[in-house]
Amino acid sequence: MSRVTMMVNGASVMAEVEPRTHLADFLREDRGLTGTHLGCEHGVCGACTLLIDGAPARSCIAYAVACDDSEIQAIEGLEDDPTIVRLRAAFTAEHALQCGYCTPGMLVTARDIVHRLPNADEATIRLELSGNLCRCTGYAGIVRAIRSVLAEGVSIPVARPTALPVLPAISIVPEPTRTAATPSPNSTQILRTLRIDLPRNEVWNAVRDPALVASCVPGARLTCVVANRLSGEVRAALGPIETQFIGDGIISFDERNRRAELSGEGRDAKTGTRLSGRAVLTLRGLDANVTEATLSIDYVLRGPLAQFARAAVVREFVAEIADTVARDLAARVRGTSIAPVARLSVGGLLWRMVVRWLRAALGRH
Ligand code: FES
Ligand code: FES
Repeated sequence: MSRVTMMVNGASVMAEVEPRTHLADFLREDRGLTGTHLGCEHGVCGACTLLIDGAPARSCIAYAVACDDSEIQAIEGLEDDPTIVRLRAAFTAEHALQCGYCTPGMLVTARDIVHRLPNADEATIRLELSGNLCRCTGYAGIVRAIRSVLAEGVSIPVARPTALPVLPAISIVPEPTRTAATPSPNSTQILRTLRIDLPRNEVWNAVRDPALVASCVPGARLTCVVANRLSGEVRAALGPIETQFIGDGIISFDERNRRAELSGEGRDAKTGTRLSGRAVLTLRGLDANVTEATLSIDYVLRGPLAQFARAAVVREFVAEIADTVARDLAARVRGTSIAPVARLSVGGLLWRMVVRWLRAALGRH
């Protein structure tokens, strides 16, 4: 028997499995998730299609042990997924199912088509569906259903930050638009726009110094910088849970557009949680002494702590850290010394957020 840890439909799962057990059997027999259907068990019919780390995959030919540390979304976990909700309604309206045996796998593939190929025509849809067999419908209704969802337009939800109080030097405003770079639909996205009362070149020179930026991130420490490769750690405490994410990243600077991009991965050895993500910062001069900084973050958390990854509170929490970093960075550029924070206190940040929410709520009455 082998031990596996994975996220299944947003919940952390740890189990002992035989090495020969495939993922579909594991889900159906060990977890009771019978929405994943089995037809051929040879990777041909597509009935067992689900999402592994956000990508459609056949669970009858994926060993459960090979999915260790992965994120699995079976059809039950997609019940409230906005695209699946629309596809379900379209399948009903277009009579796209009869016995329904192929339907879970068909919906997962249809969702992938809708997200990946928003302009797909009928021929493309049929080609993309060729890995999912249906013995009842003749496919006409399925193709019509997918076309009708595509015709409505695709919209993948993006986190909208909440406005924070205006500070004397920096004001933070919500940014309603997405950046040009399209993040994975499986990641959590955060976008912040900040106005910094400093010239763009001064802010850019600060951003070009990774050690200075790291010193403004609560709990962060750079351990090595070689050319554009960075190594470091971030310590955080959430009540009794202490985490220490150690990881590596690559940073690049686009001098012409004043755009910095950092992508990397880290792992907390204690919980086995993995974090991968990307942050893009773009600076724009509003006038000679004012800079607009747009920070876009998208990240994926896998492992035991991933159950917290998509809650609205986490988006607020990460946004709060981004604002803290920007505020401290501006202070450092102005020459104001700030005390380094050895460990990020999640509880402290959450408490400040609760106080702010309460103030806002009371202010409305
Ligand atoms: S049961 Fe997996 S492809 Fe047929
Ligand atoms: S609806 Fe019966 S196999 Fe597709």
